[in-house]
Amino acid sequence: MNSQYLPGDADRHSPNTSLRPVTFTVDEHNQPLVGGMNLVELAHAYGTPLYVLDEATLRASARAYKETLKAVYSGDSLPLYACKANMSMGLVKLMEQEGMGLDVVSGGEIYTAVQAGFPMERVLFNGNNKTYQELELAIHHGVGRISADNFHDLELINKIASAKGKKVNLLLRVTPGIECHTHDYIKTGHIDSKFGFDLSQLAAAVDMIQEQYKDTIVLKGLHAHIGSQIFETKPYEDLIEILLNIYYNIREQYSGLVLEDLDLGGGLGVTYTGQDDPPAVSAAVQRIVEKLVFYAKRLNYPLPRLLMEPGRSMVATAGMTLYTVGSMKDVPGLRKYVAVDGGMGDNIRPALYQAQYSALVATKVNAPVEETVTIVGKYCESGDILIKGLPVPCLESGDILAVFGTGAYNYTMSSNYNRFPRPATVLVENGHAHVLVQRETYDTIIQQDLIPAHLRKVSEPVPVPVP
Ligand code: LLP
Repeated sequence: MNSQYLPGDADRHSPNTSLRPVTFTVDEHNQPLVGGMNLVELAHAYGTPLYVLDEATLRASARAYKETLKAVYSGDSLPLYACKANMSMGLVKLMEQEGMGLDVVSGGEIYTAVQAGFPMERVLFNGNNKTYQELELAIHHGVGRISADNFHDLELINKIASAKGKKVNLLLRVTPGIECHTHDYIKTGHIDSKFGFDLSQLAAAVDMIQEQYKDTIVLKGLHAHIGSQIFETKPYEDLIEILLNIYYNIREQYSGLVLEDLDLGGGLGVTYTGQDDPPAVSAAVQRIVEKLVFYAKRLNYPLPRLLMEPGRSMVATAGMTLYTVGSMKDVPGLRKYVAVDGGMGDNIRPALYQAQYSALVATKVNAPVEETVTIVGKYCESGDILIKGLPVPCLESGDILAVFGTGAYNYTMSSNYNRFPRPATVLVENGHAHVLVQRETYDTIIQQDLIPAHLRKVSEPVPVPVP
């Protein structure tokens, strides 16, 4: 009989290629620990569902980017953590300690970084429909770079910068004609995407900055993001070639204008199940840098400051979600449903993208696998399925299920659907647990509700005639 252990990742050391947080271990009493904290005890102490983040894995991921870049690239570089993957003020402080920059995409993300006291010169503001207020907030707080997605952005940035007497350091986001769908990619002449300047519009945008907006905008470089959960470096290598050729042409056409920054976006993949095989961050970064140096040399172009925007590969593996098993339903001959006390409100990814996850029954780590079940949530949707076909020991209500790899795009995509409060997030390190985000309460749920005066008075019920 198999144990429910996840095979194959014990000897893999890069956080993004492992299924589990780097500190995951099982002690002599068969208790699973992360960051030196017993997962079952965490579930009981903080309640479930509970997001757990392992500080050591977060730091290891940041260092995989920072240290590899430092070791293999002789130009300047800055990895910008893509906050959309997971954001809270404590997490932002951790990124600051690790020397990371931030990629933010909204007023809310800017505000969070400001409130956390993050050095705003290490922040890049992205997005395809930034409002006047968001751009004003960004410029007011002195974000280091804004990536303009379209002509509307340029117009607003110019307006705000001239009103404030400031000069904005700008990247132009382009659609490079490389499209990645997880494991494979295509090169196309044109991509049907809402993001970025089409390459055919780029010259007009550069002209505009160099002529009309020269007092308010300094063009620092180009930015592209080719997709997410990418398992190969080839599309990045092609992207570098495309972008550097444009850099070369811009230098030719605009009397020696040298673009200092090159932003390759995010997208490097992680392991969610035994089927995923992404390259380690360090190996991927090294390969990307080699190509960058190669093409820069070939074009006799100075090495740009290399910006990357990793999200998932920074935080996914650091995260786990703990649930308590509740009801179960056996549909004879079909499947057994096991319901947990969370679901699509705290992890929409299986319902939205058919994303797959691995999990462990934390209360029965060493028990033999007895059956294969479907883990469902408690939301009022048939599609609220977290994991299909999970091999588990004999389960009882009250067991704690620990789902791996939930650090990215779970909390940030969570909702209050069915008026369930969002879970807490605890950060674990060296036998300590720290609350990063408090669990919502029913009061949090009704906090924004107002009852208009004319609805407050409930009239006497109209008597219903009795036949
Ligand atoms: N930079 C830009 C401009 C992006 O649009 C994104 C992600 C990133 C960086 C970070 O990409 P990452 O390294 O995390 O792949 N909600 C989806 C993922 C959407 C990604 C959107 N953009 C999911 O749960 O899989």
